Amino acid sequence: MPASSDQVSGKPAFGVYVHWPFCLSKCPYCDFNSHVRHAAIDEERFAAAFAREIETTAQRIGPRDVTSIFLGGGTPSLMQPQTVGAILDAIGKHWRVAPDAEISLEANPTSVEATRFRGYRAAGINRVSLGVQALDDASLKTLGRLHTAQEAMDAVAIARSVFDRYSFDLIYARPGQTPPMWEAELRRAIGEAAEHLSLYQLTIEAETPFFALHRAGKLLTPDESASRALYDVTQSVCAELGLPAYEISNHARPGAECKHNLVYWRGQEYAGVGPGAHGRLDIGNIRYATATERRPESWLMRVEGSGHGIVTDERLNSEERADEFLLMGLRLAEGIDPRRYQALSGRSLDPSRIAVLREEGAIAVDADGRLRVTLAGFPVLDAVVADLAA
Ligand SMILES: C[S@@+](CC[C@H](N)C(=O)[O-])C[C@H]1O[C@@H](n2cnc3c(N)ncnc32)[C@H](O)[C@@H]1O
Ligand code: SF4
Repeated sequence: MPASSDQVSGKPAFGVYVHWPFCLSKCPYCDFNSHVRHAAIDEERFAAAFAREIETTAQRIGPRDVTSIFLGGGTPSLMQPQTVGAILDAIGKHWRVAPDAEISLEANPTSVEATRFRGYRAAGINRVSLGVQALDDASLKTLGRLHTAQEAMDAVAIARSVFDRYSFDLIYARPGQTPPMWEAELRRAIGEAAEHLSLYQLTIEAETPFFALHRAGKLLTPDESASRALYDVTQSVCAELGLPAYEISNHARPGAECKHNLVYWRGQEYAGVGPGAHGRLDIGNIRYATATERRPESWLMRVEGSGHGIVTDERLNSEERADEFLLMGLRLAEGIDPRRYQALSGRSLDPSRIAVLREEGAIAVDADGRLRVTLAGFPVLDAVVADLAA
């Protein structure tokens, strides 16, 4: 099986991730590579740089059939439709884009309007993912969001009217949130969701304003047992209403999973373009882990000077590849094929560790040999992976 094949279907997959690094304001919990600029962004110049970096990547790896494209951020919905069109055209010029490719764009409700969404659709976008975060105004205020719950729902309605496929994100385990409150919110959210929801537990990231507030005792988040109760509510309500988890934080009706994110979790190949984008490129039998310059203006100058913004370009050895495969693959409900781990690392997973984790109920081994983390094991996923990889 080629390195980039889908381990479940056997079909090759290749994703392109494009990072748009600008936002209208910086949310206090967020450590994504996002920047606020008060002067207008020169989108034409950025579009030319994206096209140049795509060209350089294509020259390096050769022909590919693109199965998914994801424009993430930052806030890609701040881009003009013609900027999105120019980026998608550049991808189509250097690679073949499969007719059924999933082409997603991340949007913030603050910058959603119907005309622009129709422009994105005309440019080639066929799926949007909206950052709704919460369905009540008090929580949105705590999260530092610039939109109200009503504005978020209006944005969802616009997404629904323009695109067949849309998803939205919610953050839970917020300050003061109890399981009954979350259950009511989640039921409402599923009523608005068509096929896909991303449900993230609030993470207190280092070097964010939330980190300082949390450390000072001014931001009280649910403790471990309360978080566990919120996680359990998430799993049971989503499963009951037809959107089971297919990944630790992602829920979909069967068949509506985000193809692009599956590329990451299944350890397949993807190119990362734009400031602070990561990629995994297969050249011959070697896998390279790439990362580009994070600061938008420095990335722009590098691309204009040398055709790419890559600042990290590492050959992964077999051990690193196998560990990454385990770490990413075990996030998925479908789990991993241990034979693939063996093919990558040259050694099999330790049967005695598997036996102990099975006994504890943290993992299961299916009849076809696939190994997966159970719903009870997901809250301790990091420990399970560390144990298996040891
Ligand atoms: C790049 S942002 C999404 C799009 C857009 N920038 C927005 O915020 O509306 C990706 C998602 O990550 C989630 N996220 C970011 N920081 C988080 C944190 N500290 N804890 C939990 N979820 C987080 C949010 O749900 C967010 O929508
Ligand atoms: S959560 Fe979204 S809008 Fe807020 S700073 Fe991060 S990327 Fe920007």
